[in-house]
Amino acid sequence: MTKTEYEFTVKRKNDEGAVSYSRYSVPKDKISTVLEGLIYITENIDQTLSVRYSCRMEICGSCGMEINGKPRMACSTIASKLGTDKIRVEPLKHYDVVKDLVVDIDPFFEKYRKGLPYIIRNDEEDYSSELRQTPEQFKEYEKYSMCIKCGLCLDACPIAGTDPDYMGPAALAGVLRYNLDNRDQGSRYRLEIINGEEGTSRCHFVGECTEACPKGVDPSFAIQILRSQGLKHEISKIFRKD
Ligand code: SF4
Ligand code: FES
Repeated sequence: MTKTEYEFTVKRKNDEGAVSYSRYSVPKDKISTVLEGLIYITENIDQTLSVRYSCRMEICGSCGMEINGKPRMACSTIASKLGTDKIRVEPLKHYDVVKDLVVDIDPFFEKYRKGLPYIIRNDEEDYSSELRQTPEQFKEYEKYSMCIKCGLCLDACPIAGTDPDYMGPAALAGVLRYNLDNRDQGSRYRLEIINGEEGTSRCHFVGECTEACPKGVDPSFAIQILRSQGLKHEISKIFRKD
């Protein structure tokens, strides 16, 4: 390797499950981001390397991986800002690896779905036209709606790593996003779920999820708010007759 090249070390897993490391030299003037480096490798050096990506602009959430030991989006990680010419790339560690850098994201979405991430109405109104919302009402949940379902927060979470039943930071931030939406009437169903064994009680507030999130969603803070909502929900059940 010369001063004009990055040294990429990529963790690989083949169809038989054997793990190995491949090393590649990538010209610095050909790439800006780590994802561009990986694409350069697949187009010029090694077509057998598997990488998942789509938008290349931190929107689709598909290029999450560990880069120099931290969960990051490859498409928004500028290689020159890593502070080293040696770039180590590995699949997200809390997911099963399908091949090379491609992980099985299905369990993440299953957890996300558990939080009922959609608007629920309990009345019999006519919903053929839109449910109106003021800019202030939108601001209430805007931050939590920025989630791109990349799964980095779950990779960073030490609890999710040892406890596969825990819903995890993204799913819980998703719960808060809908609980704070003025058009929604389904909070009590979600609070029943997140007050259960798989919900907020498992979080130890390490805050690694918030640090890993590329979109500023702040799942750790969302979980703190949810704990308070959950407590109010339990108290209100004592006084409710239904
Ligand atoms: S909360 Fe942040 S890190 Fe977690 S899935 Fe959403 S965007 Fe990714
Ligand atoms: S390629 Fe879409 S988020 Fe990175």
